[in-house]
Amino acid sequence: MTTLPRTEVFAPADTAMTTADSDTDAWVLETLRRYEPATMHTQHPVVWDRASGSRVFAQDGRSWLDWTSGILTANAGHARAEVVTAITAQAQQGLLHAYMFPTRVRARTVKALAELSGFAQAVLYTTGAEAVEGGLKISSRHAIARRGPRRNRSVVVTFDGSFHGRTLGAQLAGGLPAQRDWAPSLDEVFIHVPFPAHGEAWDTKVIEDALQEVGARPEDVSCVMGEIYQGSTLRQIDPASARLLREWCSQHGALLIFDEIQSGFGRTGALFAYEHIGVRPDLLLVAKGLSGSLPISAVLIADPAFTENVRPGELTSTHSGNPISLAAAEANLALFADGTLVAEASRRGQQLADGLADWVSLLPQRRRIIGAMGMIAGVACTNEDGTLDAQSSQRLATQCIEHGLLVCVPSTMGGAMLKIMPPVTTSEEELAEGLARFSEAADAAQLS
Ligand SMILES: Cc1ncc(COP(=O)(O)O)c(C=O)c1O
Repeated sequence: MTTLPRTEVFAPADTAMTTADSDTDAWVLETLRRYEPATMHTQHPVVWDRASGSRVFAQDGRSWLDWTSGILTANAGHARAEVVTAITAQAQQGLLHAYMFPTRVRARTVKALAELSGFAQAVLYTTGAEAVEGGLKISSRHAIARRGPRRNRSVVVTFDGSFHGRTLGAQLAGGLPAQRDWAPSLDEVFIHVPFPAHGEAWDTKVIEDALQEVGARPEDVSCVMGEIYQGSTLRQIDPASARLLREWCSQHGALLIFDEIQSGFGRTGALFAYEHIGVRPDLLLVAKGLSGSLPISAVLIADPAFTENVRPGELTSTHSGNPISLAAAEANLALFADGTLVAEASRRGQQLADGLADWVSLLPQRRRIIGAMGMIAGVACTNEDGTLDAQSSQRLATQCIEHGLLVCVPSTMGGAMLKIMPPVTTSEEELAEGLARFSEAADAAQLS
Protein backbone atom coordinates (compact mmCIF):
# COMPACT_ATOMS: atom_id res chain seq x y z
CA MET A 1 0.00 0.00 0.00
CA THR A 2 2.75 2.46 0.94
CA THR A 3 4.54 3.92 -2.04
CA LEU A 4 7.09 6.01 -0.22
CA PRO A 5 10.51 6.18 -1.85
CA ARG A 6 12.78 3.56 -0.33
CA THR A 7 15.65 5.08 1.60
CA GLU A 8 18.99 3.32 1.25
CA VAL A 9 19.25 1.51 4.53
CA PHE A 10 19.24 -1.94 2.92
CA ALA A 11 22.58 -3.68 2.98
CA PRO A 12 23.86 -4.69 -0.48
CA ALA A 13 22.44 -8.05 -1.59
CA ASP A 14 25.78 -9.88 -1.42
CA THR A 15 26.73 -8.71 2.06
CA ALA A 16 27.48 -11.76 4.19
CA MET A 17 25.46 -11.64 7.39
CA THR A 18 26.35 -13.76 10.37
CA THR A 19 23.91 -15.18 12.91
CA ALA A 20 25.07 -12.49 15.32
CA ASP A 21 23.64 -9.90 12.92
CA SER A 22 20.26 -11.57 12.82
CA ASP A 23 18.84 -9.32 15.49
CA THR A 24 19.59 -6.04 13.73
CA ASP A 25 17.15 -4.00 11.65
CA ALA A 26 19.61 -4.17 8.73
CA TRP A 27 19.45 -7.98 8.85
CA VAL A 28 15.64 -7.90 8.82
CA LEU A 29 15.53 -5.59 5.82
CA GLU A 30 18.17 -7.47 3.87
CA THR A 31 16.56 -10.85 4.59
CA LEU A 32 13.13 -9.62 3.51
CA ARG A 33 14.69 -8.18 0.38
CA ARG A 34 16.26 -11.52 -0.50
CA TYR A 35 13.37 -13.80 0.35
CA GLU A 36 10.34 -11.73 -0.60
CA PRO A 37 9.42 -10.53 -4.08
CA ALA A 38 10.37 -7.03 -5.20
CA THR A 39 6.78 -5.82 -4.86
CA MET A 40 7.29 -5.82 -1.08
CA HIS A 41 10.44 -3.68 -1.21
CA THR A 42 8.57 -0.39 -1.47
CA GLN A 43 7.61 -0.56 2.21
CA HIS A 44 9.26 2.16 4.25
CA PRO A 45 12.15 0.59 6.19
CA VAL A 46 10.82 1.12 9.71
CA VAL A 47 11.24 -2.24 11.42
CA TRP A 48 8.47 -2.64 14.00
CA ASP A 49 9.60 -4.32 17.20
CA ARG A 50 6.57 -3.65 19.39
CA ALA A 51 3.57 -1.36 19.50
CA SER A 52 1.51 -0.07 22.39
CA GLY A 53 -1.47 2.31 22.39
CA SER A 54 -0.75 4.97 19.79
CA ARG A 55 2.97 4.27 19.49
CA VAL A 56 5.23 1.92 17.56
CA PHE A 57 8.75 1.15 18.80
CA ALA A 58 11.93 0.02 17.07
CA GLN A 59 14.25 -2.33 18.87
CA ASP A 60 16.77 0.47 19.50
CA GLY A 61 14.15 2.49 21.38
CA ARG A 62 13.13 4.90 18.61
CA SER A 63 9.38 5.43 18.55
CA TRP A 64 6.72 6.78 16.22
CA LEU A 65 3.20 7.95 16.78
CA ASP A 66 1.12 5.67 14.59
CA TRP A 67 -1.21 7.59 12.31
CA THR A 68 -1.97 4.39 10.37
CA SER A 69 -3.48 2.25 13.18
CA GLY A 70 -1.77 -0.65 11.42
CA ILE A 71 -3.98 0.17 8.43
CA LEU A 72 -7.16 0.89 10.41
CA THR A 73 -6.93 -2.15 12.65
CA ALA A 74 -5.65 -0.97 16.05
CA ASN A 75 -8.67 1.31 16.55
CA ALA A 76 -8.66 0.72 20.31
CA GLY A 77 -4.87 1.08 20.41
CA HIS A 78 -2.06 -1.38 19.79
CA ALA A 79 -1.74 -4.30 22.20
CA ARG A 80 -4.61 -3.31 24.51
CA ALA A 81 -4.06 -4.95 27.89
CA GLU A 82 -7.59 -6.42 27.83
CA VAL A 83 -6.95 -8.00 24.41
CA VAL A 84 -3.51 -9.34 25.35
CA THR A 85 -4.95 -10.85 28.55
CA ALA A 86 -7.78 -12.54 26.63
CA ILE A 87 -5.38 -13.95 24.00
CA THR A 88 -3.05 -15.24 26.71
CA ALA A 89 -5.90 -16.79 28.72
CA GLN A 90 -7.28 -18.53 25.62
CA ALA A 91 -3.83 -19.90 24.73
CA GLN A 92 -3.29 -21.09 28.29
CA GLN A 93 -6.68 -22.79 28.28
CA GLY A 94 -5.10 -24.96 25.61
CA LEU A 95 -7.42 -24.46 22.64
CA LEU A 96 -5.66 -22.84 19.70
CA HIS A 97 -7.79 -24.20 16.88
CA ALA A 98 -11.20 -25.72 16.26
CA TYR A 99 -12.95 -26.38 12.97
CA MET A 100 -16.49 -27.66 12.46
CA PHE A 101 -16.97 -28.07 16.20
CA PRO A 102 -18.62 -25.51 18.48
CA THR A 103 -16.58 -23.61 21.04
CA ARG A 104 -17.59 -21.40 23.96
CA VAL A 105 -15.55 -18.45 22.75
CA ARG A 106 -17.28 -18.60 19.35
CA ALA A 107 -20.73 -18.61 20.96
CA ARG A 108 -19.84 -15.67 23.20
CA THR A 109 -18.33 -13.66 20.34
CA VAL A 110 -21.17 -14.00 17.81
CA LYS A 111 -23.64 -13.14 20.60
CA ALA A 112 -21.60 -10.05 21.54
CA LEU A 113 -21.34 -9.03 17.88
CA ALA A 114 -25.09 -9.35 17.36
CA GLU A 115 -25.91 -7.48 20.56
CA LEU A 116 -23.48 -4.65 19.85
CA SER A 117 -24.39 -4.21 16.18
CA GLY A 118 -28.11 -4.98 16.30
CA PHE A 119 -27.71 -7.45 13.42
CA ALA A 120 -29.39 -10.83 13.83
CA GLN A 121 -26.54 -13.18 12.89
CA ALA A 122 -22.85 -13.26 12.09
CA VAL A 123 -20.73 -15.48 9.84
CA LEU A 124 -17.08 -15.46 10.83
CA TYR A 125 -14.13 -15.34 8.46
CA THR A 126 -10.45 -14.50 8.69
CA THR A 127 -9.72 -11.57 6.36
CA GLY A 128 -11.71 -8.67 4.98
CA ALA A 129 -11.56 -9.98 1.42
CA GLU A 130 -12.91 -13.30 2.63
CA ALA A 131 -15.88 -11.54 4.26
CA VAL A 132 -16.49 -9.77 0.94
CA GLU A 133 -16.53 -13.12 -0.86
CA GLY A 134 -18.91 -14.45 1.80
CA GLY A 135 -21.23 -11.48 1.32
CA LEU A 136 -21.25 -12.05 -2.45
CA LYS A 137 -22.05 -15.74 -1.96
CA ILE A 138 -24.89 -15.12 0.51
CA SER A 139 -26.49 -12.56 -1.80
CA SER A 140 -26.07 -14.75 -4.85
CA ARG A 141 -27.73 -17.75 -3.14
CA HIS A 142 -30.53 -15.44 -1.98
CA ALA A 143 -31.02 -14.07 -5.51
CA ILE A 144 -31.00 -17.49 -7.17
CA ALA A 145 -33.68 -18.70 -4.76
CA ARG A 146 -35.76 -15.56 -5.32
CA ARG A 147 -35.61 -15.76 -9.12
CA GLY A 148 -36.19 -19.48 -9.36
CA PRO A 149 -34.08 -22.00 -11.24
CA ARG A 150 -34.72 -20.62 -14.73
CA ARG A 151 -32.43 -17.65 -14.42
CA ASN A 152 -29.14 -18.24 -12.72
CA ARG A 153 -27.35 -15.00 -13.37
CA SER A 154 -26.22 -13.00 -10.34
CA VAL A 155 -25.04 -9.51 -11.11
CA VAL A 156 -23.02 -7.57 -8.53
CA VAL A 157 -23.27 -3.77 -8.62
CA THR A 158 -20.44 -1.76 -7.07
CA PHE A 159 -19.01 1.72 -7.41
CA ASP A 160 -16.19 3.35 -9.34
CA GLY A 161 -13.29 3.97 -6.96
CA SER A 162 -14.31 1.29 -4.44
CA PHE A 163 -11.88 -1.11 -2.80
CA HIS A 164 -13.00 -4.46 -1.43
CA GLY A 165 -9.80 -6.53 -1.17
CA ARG A 166 -7.38 -8.45 -3.36
CA THR A 167 -8.90 -11.90 -3.84
CA LEU A 168 -10.47 -12.53 -7.24
CA GLY A 169 -14.11 -11.75 -6.44
CA ALA A 170 -13.25 -8.83 -4.18
CA GLN A 171 -10.87 -7.37 -6.74
CA LEU A 172 -13.37 -7.72 -9.58
CA ALA A 173 -15.95 -6.04 -7.38
CA GLY A 174 -13.53 -3.18 -6.71
CA GLY A 175 -13.89 -0.06 -8.81
CA LEU A 176 -10.17 0.57 -9.36
CA PRO A 177 -9.42 -0.70 -12.90
CA ALA A 178 -5.62 -0.45 -12.50
CA GLN A 179 -5.80 -2.93 -9.62
CA ARG A 180 -7.85 -5.56 -11.42
CA ASP A 181 -6.04 -5.71 -14.77
CA TRP A 182 -4.37 -8.98 -13.66
CA ALA A 183 -7.76 -10.69 -13.38
CA PRO A 184 -9.98 -12.20 -16.05
CA SER A 185 -12.74 -9.89 -17.16
CA LEU A 186 -16.22 -10.64 -15.83
CA ASP A 187 -17.73 -7.36 -16.96
CA GLU A 188 -21.20 -8.84 -17.33
CA VAL A 189 -21.24 -9.95 -13.71
CA PHE A 190 -19.44 -7.12 -11.91
CA ILE A 191 -21.02 -3.83 -12.92
CA HIS A 192 -19.42 -0.57 -11.76
CA VAL A 193 -21.44 2.62 -11.59
CA PRO A 194 -20.56 6.17 -10.47
CA PHE A 195 -20.24 6.55 -6.69
CA PRO A 196 -23.08 8.59 -5.15
CA ALA A 197 -20.67 11.09 -3.60
CA HIS A 198 -21.83 13.63 -1.05
CA GLY A 199 -23.26 16.73 -2.68
CA GLU A 200 -23.23 15.30 -6.21
CA ALA A 201 -26.35 14.63 -8.27
CA TRP A 202 -26.96 10.88 -8.51
CA ASP A 203 -29.85 8.65 -9.43
CA THR A 204 -30.42 4.89 -9.49
CA LYS A 205 -30.94 5.26 -13.23
CA VAL A 206 -27.14 4.89 -13.55
CA ILE A 207 -27.59 1.31 -12.33
CA GLU A 208 -30.39 0.54 -14.76
CA ASP A 209 -28.45 2.05 -17.68
CA ALA A 210 -25.35 0.00 -16.80
CA LEU A 211 -27.45 -3.17 -16.53
CA GLN A 212 -29.04 -2.53 -19.90
CA GLU A 213 -25.60 -2.23 -21.48
CA VAL A 214 -24.80 -5.83 -20.52
CA GLY A 215 -28.28 -7.16 -21.21
CA ALA A 216 -29.18 -7.66 -17.55
CA ARG A 217 -32.31 -6.69 -15.63
CA PRO A 218 -32.76 -5.26 -12.12
CA GLU A 219 -34.05 -8.69 -10.95
CA ASP A 220 -30.67 -10.17 -11.91
CA VAL A 221 -28.86 -8.05 -9.34
CA SER A 222 -27.91 -10.09 -6.28
CA CYS A 223 -26.38 -7.20 -4.36
CA VAL A 224 -25.26 -3.62 -4.43
CA MET A 225 -22.08 -3.22 -2.39
CA GLY A 226 -20.51 0.06 -1.34
CA GLU A 227 -18.40 1.86 1.23
CA ILE A 228 -19.68 4.77 3.36
CA TYR A 229 -16.48 6.61 2.57
CA GLN A 230 -14.22 5.28 -0.14
CA GLY A 231 -10.82 4.35 1.25
CA SER A 232 -9.20 5.24 -2.08
CA THR A 233 -10.25 8.91 -2.14
CA LEU A 234 -12.14 9.47 1.16
CA ARG A 235 -15.21 10.60 -0.79
CA GLN A 236 -18.30 10.09 1.36
CA ILE A 237 -21.60 8.66 0.29
CA ASP A 238 -24.48 11.12 -0.01
CA PRO A 239 -27.23 10.31 2.54
CA ALA A 240 -30.08 11.12 0.11
CA SER A 241 -28.50 8.95 -2.62
CA ALA A 242 -27.96 6.18 -0.08
CA ARG A 243 -31.69 6.29 0.68
CA LEU A 244 -32.45 5.98 -3.05
CA LEU A 245 -30.11 3.02 -3.20
CA ARG A 246 -31.83 1.41 -0.21
CA GLU A 247 -35.24 1.80 -1.89
CA TRP A 248 -33.94 0.45 -5.20
CA CYS A 249 -32.48 -2.66 -3.55
CA SER A 250 -35.67 -3.32 -1.57
CA GLN A 251 -37.81 -2.85 -4.67
CA HIS A 252 -35.81 -5.35 -6.75
CA GLY A 253 -34.92 -7.84 -4.01
CA ALA A 254 -31.17 -7.16 -4.18
CA LEU A 255 -29.25 -7.15 -0.91
CA LEU A 256 -27.63 -3.88 0.10
CA ILE A 257 -24.12 -4.55 1.44
CA PHE A 258 -22.05 -1.93 3.23
CA ASP A 259 -18.38 -2.76 3.36
CA GLU A 260 -17.30 -1.27 6.69
CA ILE A 261 -14.11 -3.27 6.84
CA GLN A 262 -12.16 -0.04 7.27
CA SER A 263 -14.80 2.38 8.52
CA GLY A 264 -16.18 0.28 11.39
CA PHE A 265 -15.53 0.24 15.13
CA GLY A 266 -15.40 3.91 15.99
CA ARG A 267 -13.26 5.13 13.11
CA THR A 268 -15.70 7.82 11.96
CA GLY A 269 -16.99 8.86 15.38
CA ALA A 270 -19.85 6.32 15.27
CA LEU A 271 -19.64 2.60 15.94
CA PHE A 272 -20.38 2.04 12.24
CA ALA A 273 -20.19 4.79 9.64
CA TYR A 274 -23.63 3.94 8.20
CA GLU A 275 -25.15 5.39 11.38
CA HIS A 276 -24.21 8.86 10.07
CA ILE A 277 -26.46 8.42 7.04
CA GLY A 278 -29.34 6.58 8.70
CA VAL A 279 -29.53 3.87 6.02
CA ARG A 280 -29.26 0.29 7.23
CA PRO A 281 -27.77 -2.39 5.01
CA ASP A 282 -28.88 -6.00 4.72
CA LEU A 283 -25.34 -7.28 5.16
CA LEU A 284 -22.56 -5.43 6.97
CA LEU A 285 -18.96 -6.50 6.37
CA VAL A 286 -16.51 -5.96 9.22
CA ALA A 287 -12.89 -6.91 9.89
CA LYS A 288 -9.77 -4.90 10.90
CA GLY A 289 -11.07 -3.07 14.04
CA LEU A 290 -13.21 -6.09 15.01
CA SER A 291 -10.36 -7.59 17.01
CA GLY A 292 -8.01 -4.63 16.75
CA SER A 293 -5.20 -7.10 16.26
CA LEU A 294 -5.55 -10.71 15.08
CA PRO A 295 -7.09 -11.72 11.74
CA ILE A 296 -10.84 -12.09 12.03
CA SER A 297 -13.71 -10.74 9.95
CA ALA A 298 -17.46 -11.19 9.78
CA VAL A 299 -20.53 -10.81 7.64
CA LEU A 300 -23.31 -9.40 9.82
CA ILE A 301 -26.77 -10.38 8.64
CA ALA A 302 -29.84 -8.23 9.27
CA ASP A 303 -32.40 -10.97 8.60
CA PRO A 304 -31.86 -14.75 8.95
CA ALA A 305 -33.99 -15.19 5.81
CA PHE A 306 -31.02 -13.94 3.74
CA THR A 307 -29.02 -17.09 4.52
CA GLU A 308 -31.86 -19.63 4.28
CA ASN A 309 -30.70 -20.84 0.88
CA VAL A 310 -27.02 -21.15 1.61
CA ARG A 311 -26.05 -24.82 1.58
CA PRO A 312 -24.54 -26.53 4.62
CA GLY A 313 -20.82 -25.86 4.91
CA GLU A 314 -20.80 -23.20 2.18
CA LEU A 315 -19.75 -20.39 4.48
CA THR A 316 -16.99 -22.10 6.44
CA SER A 317 -13.28 -21.70 6.19
CA THR A 318 -10.47 -23.51 8.04
CA HIS A 319 -9.45 -20.65 10.33
CA SER A 320 -12.70 -18.73 10.53
CA GLY A 321 -13.54 -19.69 14.10
CA ASN A 322 -10.01 -19.49 15.44
CA PRO A 323 -10.31 -19.38 19.24
CA ILE A 324 -7.35 -17.03 19.77
CA SER A 325 -8.64 -14.50 17.21
CA LEU A 326 -12.11 -14.82 18.73
CA ALA A 327 -10.77 -14.18 22.22
CA ALA A 328 -9.14 -11.01 20.91
CA ALA A 329 -12.38 -9.96 19.20
CA GLU A 330 -14.49 -10.66 22.28
CA ALA A 331 -12.23 -8.55 24.51
CA ASN A 332 -12.08 -5.79 21.90
CA LEU A 333 -15.88 -5.72 21.43
CA ALA A 334 -16.31 -5.26 25.18
CA LEU A 335 -14.28 -2.05 24.91
CA PHE A 336 -16.91 -0.61 22.56
CA ALA A 337 -19.93 -1.80 24.54
CA ASP A 338 -20.83 1.32 26.56
CA GLY A 339 -20.25 3.87 23.77
CA THR A 340 -17.66 5.91 25.72
CA LEU A 341 -14.84 5.06 23.36
CA VAL A 342 -16.86 6.06 20.30
CA ALA A 343 -17.97 9.36 21.88
CA GLU A 344 -14.35 10.14 22.69
CA ALA A 345 -13.36 9.29 19.11
CA SER A 346 -15.87 11.83 17.87
CA ARG A 347 -14.28 14.57 20.06
CA ARG A 348 -10.76 13.57 18.96
CA GLY A 349 -11.93 13.66 15.33
CA GLN A 350 -12.91 17.31 15.79
CA GLN A 351 -9.47 18.05 17.27
CA LEU A 352 -7.83 16.36 14.26
CA ALA A 353 -9.98 18.28 11.76
CA ASP A 354 -9.31 21.62 13.54
CA GLY A 355 -5.57 20.95 13.70
CA LEU A 356 -5.37 20.10 10.01
CA ALA A 357 -7.49 23.15 9.11
CA ASP A 358 -5.00 25.37 11.01
CA TRP A 359 -2.15 23.79 9.05
CA VAL A 360 -3.90 24.33 5.74
CA SER A 361 -4.69 27.96 6.58
CA LEU A 362 -0.95 28.72 6.69
CA LEU A 363 -0.55 27.99 2.99
CA PRO A 364 -4.04 27.46 1.54
CA GLN A 365 -2.98 27.47 -2.10
CA ARG A 366 -0.54 24.56 -1.52
CA ARG A 367 -2.50 22.20 0.77
CA ARG A 368 -5.82 20.51 0.88
CA ILE A 369 -7.73 18.42 3.43
CA ILE A 370 -9.53 15.45 1.97
CA GLY A 371 -12.68 13.88 3.41
CA ALA A 372 -12.15 14.31 7.14
CA MET A 373 -14.66 12.15 9.04
CA GLY A 374 -13.98 11.36 12.71
CA MET A 375 -10.53 9.83 13.06
CA ILE A 376 -9.87 9.54 9.34
CA ALA A 377 -8.62 12.31 7.09
CA GLY A 378 -6.40 12.80 4.08
CA VAL A 379 -4.15 15.68 3.21
CA ALA A 380 -2.59 16.44 -0.13
CA CYS A 381 -0.14 18.98 -1.39
CA THR A 382 -1.29 20.93 -4.40
CA ASN A 383 0.25 23.11 -7.07
CA GLU A 384 -0.61 26.82 -7.26
CA ASP A 385 -3.44 25.95 -9.67
CA GLY A 386 -4.99 23.50 -7.19
CA THR A 387 -3.92 20.30 -9.00
CA LEU A 388 -2.42 17.53 -6.88
CA ASP A 389 1.33 17.64 -6.31
CA ALA A 390 2.29 14.03 -5.63
CA GLN A 391 6.03 14.77 -5.33
CA SER A 392 5.54 17.21 -2.48
CA SER A 393 3.07 14.88 -0.78
CA GLN A 394 5.59 12.05 -0.93
CA ARG A 395 8.29 14.35 0.47
CA LEU A 396 5.95 15.32 3.29
CA ALA A 397 5.19 11.66 4.05
CA THR A 398 8.90 10.82 4.22
CA GLN A 399 9.49 13.77 6.54
CA CYS A 400 6.57 12.66 8.75
CA ILE A 401 8.27 9.33 9.27
CA GLU A 402 11.61 11.07 9.89
CA HIS A 403 9.81 13.19 12.48
CA GLY A 404 8.36 10.21 14.31
CA LEU A 405 4.94 10.02 12.72
CA LEU A 406 3.84 7.01 10.69
CA VAL A 407 1.53 7.88 7.80
CA CYS A 408 0.30 5.91 4.84
CA VAL A 409 0.28 6.95 1.19
CA PRO A 410 -2.10 4.79 -0.90
CA SER A 411 -1.33 4.32 -4.56
CA THR A 412 -4.72 5.85 -5.42
CA MET A 413 -5.06 9.60 -6.17
CA GLY A 414 -1.71 9.37 -7.95
CA GLY A 415 0.06 8.78 -4.63
CA ALA A 416 -0.73 12.37 -3.61
CA MET A 417 -2.82 11.72 -0.50
CA LEU A 418 -1.40 11.09 2.95
CA LYS A 419 -3.99 9.07 4.79
CA ILE A 420 -4.24 9.99 8.47
CA MET A 421 -5.92 7.47 10.75
CA PRO A 422 -4.67 7.44 14.34
CA PRO A 423 -6.06 4.89 16.79
CA VAL A 424 -9.43 6.22 17.93
CA THR A 425 -8.15 5.98 21.51
CA THR A 426 -5.35 8.49 20.83
CA SER A 427 -5.37 10.96 23.74
CA GLU A 428 -5.79 14.72 23.38
CA GLU A 429 -2.10 15.20 24.26
CA GLU A 430 -0.92 12.53 21.80
CA LEU A 431 -2.99 14.04 19.02
CA ALA A 432 -1.58 17.50 19.78
CA GLU A 433 1.90 15.98 19.70
CA GLY A 434 1.14 14.30 16.36
CA LEU A 435 -0.13 17.55 14.87
CA ALA A 436 3.01 19.36 16.05
CA ARG A 437 5.23 16.65 14.51
CA PHE A 438 3.21 16.86 11.31
CA SER A 439 3.71 20.60 11.14
CA GLU A 440 7.48 20.24 11.74
CA ALA A 441 7.61 17.60 9.00
CA ALA A 442 5.85 20.00 6.63
CA ASP A 443 8.41 22.70 7.41
CA ALA A 444 11.24 20.26 6.78
CA ALA A 445 9.64 19.16 3.51
CA GLN A 446 9.79 22.80 2.33
CA LEU A 447 6.45 22.66 0.63
CA SER A 448 6.29 26.28 -0.47
C1 LIG B 1 -13.12 -1.28 2.47
C2 LIG B 1 -12.25 -2.50 2.47
N1 LIG B 1 -12.77 -3.68 2.08
C3 LIG B 1 -12.03 -4.80 2.06
C4 LIG B 1 -10.70 -4.79 2.43
C5 LIG B 1 -9.90 -6.06 2.39
O1 LIG B 1 -9.53 -6.47 3.68
P1 LIG B 1 -8.32 -7.48 3.86
O2 LIG B 1 -7.07 -6.73 3.52
O3 LIG B 1 -8.37 -7.88 5.32
O4 LIG B 1 -8.58 -8.63 2.95
C6 LIG B 1 -10.11 -3.59 2.84
C7 LIG B 1 -8.70 -3.54 3.20
O5 LIG B 1 -8.06 -2.51 3.28
C8 LIG B 1 -10.91 -2.41 2.85
O6 LIG B 1 -10.39 -1.23 3.21
